[in-house]
Amino acid sequence: MSLGQSRVPLVDLGWQHAEVADEVERGFSEVLAATDFIGGKAVAAFEQEYADALDIPFVVGVANGTDAIEIALRAVGVGPGDEVVLPANTFVATAEAVVRAGARPVLVDADPVHHLIDPERAMAAFGPRAKAVVPVHLYGQAAPVEKLLAAAAGAGVAVVEDAAQSQGATRNGRPAGGLAEIAGTSFYPGKNLGAYGDAGAVLTGSAELAQRVRLLANHGSQRKYAHETFGFNSRLDTLQAVVLRAKLRRLAGWNAARRAAAERYHALLADLADAGRVVLPATAPGNEHVWHLYVLWVPAAVADRDDILRALDAAGIGAGIHYPVPVHLQPAFRDPARGPGSCPVVERAAAEILSLPLFPGITGAQQERVAAELARALR
Ligand SMILES: Cc1ncc(COP(=O)(O)O)c(C=O)c1O
Repeated sequence: MSLGQSRVPLVDLGWQHAEVADEVERGFSEVLAATDFIGGKAVAAFEQEYADALDIPFVVGVANGTDAIEIALRAVGVGPGDEVVLPANTFVATAEAVVRAGARPVLVDADPVHHLIDPERAMAAFGPRAKAVVPVHLYGQAAPVEKLLAAAAGAGVAVVEDAAQSQGATRNGRPAGGLAEIAGTSFYPGKNLGAYGDAGAVLTGSAELAQRVRLLANHGSQRKYAHETFGFNSRLDTLQAVVLRAKLRRLAGWNAARRAAAERYHALLADLADAGRVVLPATAPGNEHVWHLYVLWVPAAVADRDDILRALDAAGIGAGIHYPVPVHLQPAFRDPARGPGSCPVVERAAAEILSLPLFPGITGAQQERVAAELARALR
């Protein structure tokens, strides 16, 4: 990095905060004045506004995305003795939610082009104990759910979407998170719609499931001190709802900025791609991508991805890897039936993928620097 040049971070949340700061401060002052920290007005308002924005009938705010997926799984009846099929390339939270619901995760491979769950492998993994399948809408685009939905319906398997990385994405005009009966999403600060701490939501078209989720997330209770079912404490904070309302108003514009930045990378990196030095990310047919992450491949035959990552870091570029160790190879999730070699696409990706800085507010000059440093590292 030359003198006077600042780092290009993987994600820059400061730019987003500057856009909403006044609105957030006003909203916080109102909450502080009213002292309605739990279940305040902003929570119900955000739930309705998010439901309207996505065109999904019910949104129930919860404490984080991991809880959202666990509660969604429990709401469709997943419990001890059940199996849940999910892709091996996801953030570990998807598998954690399955285990916390009492079930066994069955991790399957992804397709090599879009990194999304391979529906054929997922369907082949539906055994007699399969109770649910979790397509993960990874990196900002929806998983191909059509065949899965049909096969799951035939096999009595519930489809629970992990929509943590896909706020605002659509597939064939329908919202990610509204493609199946229920979904969990995360508003972790770096997500396309991010809070100022942990937050999440369950999305569903079913009034009955929404009601069950509300019960589970609030100590199994609708009325104070009346506990109909065993639940736990997973509520969306009022202060986080204030932030989410302010950011939701800008989400479509920020997603458009992400798409423009992805297009710019495609153009800047076209020569490297044509020369076979990198493989650029692709959008699956029918998808409108919201580019939560811009993930390309550095083929092992071209260079050692970790060397490239180190060279970028030394040049002041904050690249990342999503994810360096597939879930089935994490010590916490070791399963003798699914060792090394069981998900070859995901295993190869873990060694070859690289995420470039991308966020609303990234400048053309920053992207040009990223592209130039990547080209230099690959020389
Ligand atoms: C794909 C995926 N699933 C689940 C989660 C869990 O969300 P949270 O961190 O809000 O618990 C995340 C993000 O962190 C994620 O990226």
